[in-house]
Amino acid sequence: MYENVYEQITDSLVNHGYVVIEDALHETLASKLFAQAKEEQNYKVAGVSTASAIDTNRRRDKIHWIDAESEATQEYLDFTNGLREYLNRSLYLGLNYYEAHFAVYQKGDFYEKHLDAFKNSKNRVVTTVYYLNDAWSEEDGGELLMYDKEGNFIKKVLPNANTLVVFMSEEFPHEVLPAGKERYSIAGWFRIDKR
Ligand code: OGA
Ligand code: MN
Repeated sequence: MYENVYEQITDSLVNHGYVVIEDALHETLASKLFAQAKEEQNYKVAGVSTASAIDTNRRRDKIHWIDAESEATQEYLDFTNGLREYLNRSLYLGLNYYEAHFAVYQKGDFYEKHLDAFKNSKNRVVTTVYYLNDAWSEEDGGELLMYDKEGNFIKKVLPNANTLVVFMSEEFPHEVLPAGKERYSIAGWFRIDKR
């Protein structure tokens, strides 16, 4: 069903290591997931784990891990499972499973520049971010900024509904600028460890 999208993602990962696709999936899927994300009551502070506590100075979003709890999340997970199989078939990535969470950034929330995986940590290999917000504009802040390994800025992404970002987790430092209003997304990772 999404063969064209899978092919585009695969080619871009090979050639550039990342891809940004606007209007990636079915229009109605983003709006269904947006409604569900807004209804969800059970968000937890994400923060960054340190030896003794959760540090919210580097990361202010709240998250809710996703399973196939609704038709919409099932459809999203079907898409990502198809992508996982496609990437394994064409690039032999050996991706074992996918984990994903809704994230909400309230006004002022941000996520400092970070990597989703460290070299040779052998867990998160490919990152996805799927955005859910209606009519986001430059004035609303909350952009995703991506950098290359040397730290050079490469790409700014507005978190608009149905925009999908995919990148190699170890290779692209990225950050979320302070959001000017409530901001919803689904962040997910394909992993090569055992669940
Ligand atoms: C993350 C992340 C980016 C975004 O959750 O690790 O970098 O734009 N999210 O929500
Ligand atoms: Mn990240």
